[in-house]
Amino acid sequence: MSKSRNMTLVINGRSREVAVAANETLLETLRGIGAVEVKCGCEKGDCGACAVLLDGLAVDSCLTLTWTVGDRAITTVKGLGTADNPHPLQTAFADRGAIQCGFCTPGLIIASKSMLDNDTDDPSESEIRVGLGGNFCRCTGYNKILDAVIEAAQVMREEADVQ
Ligand code: FES
Ligand code: FES
Repeated sequence: MSKSRNMTLVINGRSREVAVAANETLLETLRGIGAVEVKCGCEKGDCGACAVLLDGLAVDSCLTLTWTVGDRAITTVKGLGTADNPHPLQTAFADRGAIQCGFCTPGLIIASKSMLDNDTDDPSESEIRVGLGGNFCRCTGYNKILDAVIEAAQVMREEADVQ
């Protein structure tokens, strides 16, 4: 077993002390401390279920060694909104029926947030397909996911306009 060392991670705005082994992935660390909203799928970078934001950019946590994260802000889908005050992406995924089993949903919402914040706030359907190309869904057929992202993007633009 590889030796562990203590480090402080910033997860959804809160600092958390963790003991981390040199070969431990961020996915293992997060799920090990109860962040089970980060899903474990393929563990090899193919499915996107494990995506989290690192300083606002989506990464596959299964491909990220925890010790490399340093003090960058980690955001899971739980950090985007609450049941009482959901993020527009969370609302749109629910309203549009873009969630069936829901296993892919945390990763898809994280990847969508990263795309809308960093690439384009008004994506075309083909840009969404490219932006979410690393995220697999076995249930929805993707059309409802596309509808949800288009709807959320519009809400996010409107919210940005009034600020
Ligand atoms: S579990 Fe990380 S990409 Fe599939
Ligand atoms: S809703 Fe089931 S895998 Fe996407």
